[in-house]
Amino acid sequence: MRVVVGISGGIAAYKAALAIRELVQAGHDVHVVPTASALRFIGRPTLEALSRNPVTDEVFDDVASVRHVALGQQADLIVVLPATANTIAKLAHGLADDLLGTTILASRAPLVIAPAMHTEMWEQAAVRTNVATLVERGATIVGPVAGQLTGADSGMGRMAEPHDVVAAALAVVEGARTAGSLAGRTLVVSAGGTREPIDPVRFIGNRSSGAMGAAIAAAARDAGATVTLVGANLDVAVPTGVEHVQVETTAQLAEAMAAHAGADVVVMAAAVADYRVDEVADGKRSKESWGEHPTLTLTQNPDILAGLAKRPRSNLVVGFAAETETDDAALVERGRGKLARKGADLLVLNRVGHDEGFGDVGTLVRVLDASGIIAEQSGPKASVARGIIDTVAQQLAARTTTAASTEEPR
Ligand code: CTP
Repeated sequence: MRVVVGISGGIAAYKAALAIRELVQAGHDVHVVPTASALRFIGRPTLEALSRNPVTDEVFDDVASVRHVALGQQADLIVVLPATANTIAKLAHGLADDLLGTTILASRAPLVIAPAMHTEMWEQAAVRTNVATLVERGATIVGPVAGQLTGADSGMGRMAEPHDVVAAALAVVEGARTAGSLAGRTLVVSAGGTREPIDPVRFIGNRSSGAMGAAIAAAARDAGATVTLVGANLDVAVPTGVEHVQVETTAQLAEAMAAHAGADVVVMAAAVADYRVDEVADGKRSKESWGEHPTLTLTQNPDILAGLAKRPRSNLVVGFAAETETDDAALVERGRGKLARKGADLLVLNRVGHDEGFGDVGTLVRVLDASGIIAEQSGPKASVARGIIDTVAQQLAARTTTAASTEEPR
């Protein structure tokens, strides 16, 4: 993919080097367009060496190739990092008084902007209005985040980390590719981990943050689906545009999923507590009442996924399995066994360990159907989720085609 990296004149300009390197290493053809003031923060040789392409901020260089429009016309993606308040204002007003301005105006590629400025500037009404204008026109704004700023101060305005900007920018392009594949469909996804109370202040729970389920909800929404997220004790934000049903226990999760069981796609990404405590104390249990070697009697919870899969249905039911099995072949075999046992159509299999698979970390997953592995996806949770949604959309499309071709002629 051809990526234009625009750099404007803020101290975070040096961080653009990391983004350029990441994009080049991922195999993209990167063209850097700095503003004149960006070149006071970072040298042209650095940008040329990293991008492996010539770099200029001059509209009047290489006029014969009509560079001021060619760069923009040929771009598949434009990322501006950092974007200063001044550059944001120029973009919002369509100014084209330098090569970055002409490149962006001459382009139809997705535009991703990573602002960086002091908190006071970021909060100014003028900046807010300019950012809102750009968003309204379809630009994606990544960050800023709160943290240390250039001087002694810290607060909102620090540029998002270069890796996060790159990931978000690539996600925008991938999102555009899958957009519409679930248009008109409904999808319900469970996320997080259920908690089983012991007493009013204690519970048995697990380490699931809900990041994967939330990423699936966002990817499905981007693909055009109407999405419900049944969230059990989420540690992550609910994506915008997604209906949220908040639950805590396995029984509540089961009830919420049953209420949405008719969705076109049902995804069980939540880590469900397999057991609940038999006798939940009304008051907080003390050491005195518990003694030195307390025993909790547990009862197995119903298998929600199996229940959803085994009811009469024509929808697609997807389960997840997080396994600690380290042998690859054994891992896949375990996944296939689980898929068959639960009666789901697809199973998303991933390996977890004490440091693997939880929270916002990179993940490798395999999607299995009864025949074995049908898709494999690795990377940050957002891209893995998009890959899973791609597979789901393909399966739904294949079913629709099969159903149509086997219909009796009237
Ligand atoms: N699941 C469920 N209800 C349960 C337990 C699990 O719906 N009571 C779902 C999970 O949401 C997931 C899939 O089943 O989609 C597999 O979860 P996992 O914990 O791996 O399944 P278990 O049956 O608990 O398997 P194990 O005995 O290996 O823990």
